[in-house]
Amino acid sequence: MGAILYSFLAISSLLSTAFCFPFRSASQQLQPQQPTLDGLPSNSNVTLRYVALGVGNQNYTCNGTAWVQTNAGDGALATLYDATSWLAADTSAIKTLPANRLARFKAANDGQDLANLLPYLKPLGIHYFDESNRPTFNLTHANPPLVLSSRKIDSVAAPVADAIAWLYLLDADDGITDGLKAVYRVETAGGVAPSSCSSGQTGSQTSIPYAAEYWLYD
Ligand SMILES: *[C@@H]1O[C@H](CO)[C@@H](O)[C@H](O)[C@H]1NC(C)=O
Ligand SMILES: *[C@@H]1O[C@H](CO)[C@@H](O)[C@H](O)[C@H]1NC(C)=O
Ligand SMILES: *[C@@H]1O[C@H](CO)[C@@H](O)[C@H](O)[C@H]1NC(C)=O
Ligand SMILES: *[C@@H]1O[C@H](CO)[C@@H](O)[C@H](O)[C@H]1NC(C)=O
Repeated sequence: MGAILYSFLAISSLLSTAFCFPFRSASQQLQPQQPTLDGLPSNSNVTLRYVALGVGNQNYTCNGTAWVQTNAGDGALATLYDATSWLAADTSAIKTLPANRLARFKAANDGQDLANLLPYLKPLGIHYFDESNRPTFNLTHANPPLVLSSRKIDSVAAPVADAIAWLYLLDADDGITDGLKAVYRVETAGGVAPSSCSSGQTGSQTSIPYAAEYWLYD
């Protein structure tokens, strides 16, 4: 008995020497892997909670010459899926997941459920713009539930064509946020409005499918 206990202890101490952090969570493993671009602030002063895959639409309204996102009902409306464990297990998918999922979302004719296969990702919540046009993340399926009501701080052009900008958003400090401080929108795919609209289209709305990763921090 004593010998068995002794060898168990010896093996445990060997293992913990070999792997300094044997129980690092998926979010701890992922934080240093976050894609970034010049112009987006560092993530070293915040702690990653979730990496969400967002799939949905960007809505725009024609102002007479251009498609803009300044009217009520404009902005993103997306389902958020928990991609944290999937991406921690396969970091090469960080670059490819949104583009792949957008292609499937379009092929499924905006069918969210059909697009959400292989990998099946658990729904995490929704992303939308509230009545004051604030980008809001309501993670009702997070444990515990989390909310971020945000304002845009930085924006940089995506490194690939036909993709909306990469962003950095912070808590809007309007008393709605709960448990999150910041979010990066990266690895964007799609979502870009046509380059112009005509005066005859003034006031009409268009919806452009998109996907992106939202790296959510506390
Ligand atoms: C973290 O620091 C950067 C500057 O490096 C700053 O822009 C950012 O707002 C800070 N994040 C938070 C949540 O305070
Ligand atoms: C429409 O939006 C574009 C881009 O923001 C701006 O340059 C233009 O002045 C706006 N036009 C009107 C009529 O507000
Ligand atoms: C945005 O577009 C989607 C898809 O067409 C639509 O269902 C939604 O009502 C629009 N408005 C808002 C506020 O999301
Ligand atoms: C988030 O969603 C839950 C469930 O639908 C709702 O009760 C709650 O009010 C929402 N929070 C915000 C800030 O919209």
